[in-house]
Amino acid sequence: MGEIQPKPHALLLPYPLQGHVIPFIHLATKLASNGFIITFVITESIHHQITRSKNQTNHCKEGGINIFAEARKSGLDIRYATVSDGFPLGFDRSLNHDQFFEGIVHVFSAHVDEIVGKLVQSDPPVNCLVIDTFYVFASPIARKYNLVNISFWTEPALVFTLYYHMDLLRINGHYDNYDKREDIITYIPGVESIKPTDLTSYLQTDPTTVVHRLITKAFVDIRNSDFVISNTIDELEPQIISVLQENQPFYSIGPILPTGLTKSSVPVSMWSESDCGPWLDTKPKGSVLYISFGSYAHTSKHNIVEIAHGLLLSEVNFVWVLRPDIISSEEADYLPTGYDRLIEYSGMIVPWCSQVDVLSHPAVGGFLTHCGWNSILESIWSGVPMICYPLLTDQFTNRKLVVDDWKIGVNLHDKRSVTREEIAENIRCVMSGKSSDRFKQEIKKVKKTLENALARGGSSQKNLNQFTMDVKKKIRKNQ
Ligand code: UDX
Repeated sequence: MGEIQPKPHALLLPYPLQGHVIPFIHLATKLASNGFIITFVITESIHHQITRSKNQTNHCKEGGINIFAEARKSGLDIRYATVSDGFPLGFDRSLNHDQFFEGIVHVFSAHVDEIVGKLVQSDPPVNCLVIDTFYVFASPIARKYNLVNISFWTEPALVFTLYYHMDLLRINGHYDNYDKREDIITYIPGVESIKPTDLTSYLQTDPTTVVHRLITKAFVDIRNSDFVISNTIDELEPQIISVLQENQPFYSIGPILPTGLTKSSVPVSMWSESDCGPWLDTKPKGSVLYISFGSYAHTSKHNIVEIAHGLLLSEVNFVWVLRPDIISSEEADYLPTGYDRLIEYSGMIVPWCSQVDVLSHPAVGGFLTHCGWNSILESIWSGVPMICYPLLTDQFTNRKLVVDDWKIGVNLHDKRSVTREEIAENIRCVMSGKSSDRFKQEIKKVKKTLENALARGGSSQKNLNQFTMDVKKKIRKNQ
């Protein structure tokens, strides 16, 4: 008699931030298409924001709304549940950032424990936990419920390995860097060299904040995970990935994007999307610069004003996503007086949009980006060169990959404050002339690497299949 193969049933738990929820949603579809049953667990707060921004009406069996309703219609078994993050719905998580993160570290695990305890009773039972690497409580929960412990890393392998080797940075004096050392770092396994200023912001700043504590704990816990899956591509970071694989199973399965970069049938946005399509349709091919600083980072009023003037100086067409909280203050009127009138024909300013729709529109020829990892992958997939303006977290390290390693973008500036002249000069460099052609050629090559990885027999496809087989083996072993 053949052995009964238990079906992998994975509970997916994204970090409660937009830049993590998006790749987790696409990962859910990817795994479900590869034979997994998925139970997607999201915080009540994120669920509320996504459904409110979309006016969702797709009710699931339990009476709530399942954001995967359309995907389920196409035959994918993606179930859905919400969990409290410990705060009331009306609590402003962005404004009370540190308090929120303390809650994620100290309180959220109890809520997760409770819901995992319920979901392991489902039919068929949940047998793996796919959890964001930044959670500090993966291994105790996986151990308690005998689940395969799978960590999902949503950033590049370079960033993973820097955190993984924080002890080396500490020993060598590049973390807690009070002496402001500027010498090049050459001792991280698999990383030929990296400047201290290219480390993530958390490796360059006061190490006592809640986020520092969280990262330190998470990268101790990661060593207990059974598998790490990552939104990167073997061919883009070969040395780093092969060194990481010596420590524990690490599978690159990226880029994790909605199929064909068309808007996914699953709503992903936490804010209402303005439709930029009709406006973009009126603009010539490659003439529009898209500007966005992601979902989380803030910048100063000074920099926003300089960017506004830089756009005018460059005379480029543009779509600019200006989140209402972008300058992290109560100030509402921070753009130059009369700006609306000055950009009447050339610019469109929106609070949020479907970025993948904008980037893949033929009118878009450049992207002024904060270098969030999802934004970089989406830009490469759309063949759009970048102007890099990192603000926080992994964005400084991601910038190195884009500008120094892959040569598909320029640095806006190395300093925190920017001038309108520099902005205009960089826009021209990426949007026009020979330099623009060069960037477009280079980005085509990187895009090809991404496409090949996802094609049949490509590295990410093979890694995904291998990962699925290894998970099944591990489930059998755990039985
Ligand atoms: C942050 C980090 O910067 C990022 O590297 C990490 O992987 C996740 O946390 P964020 O700052 O939000 O994320 O940037 P990014 O990774 O670029 O993710 C933003 C996502 O929001 C992208 O998928 C982008 O398409 C989407 N987006 C952004 C929109 O759909 N509309 C917008 O108007 C702006």
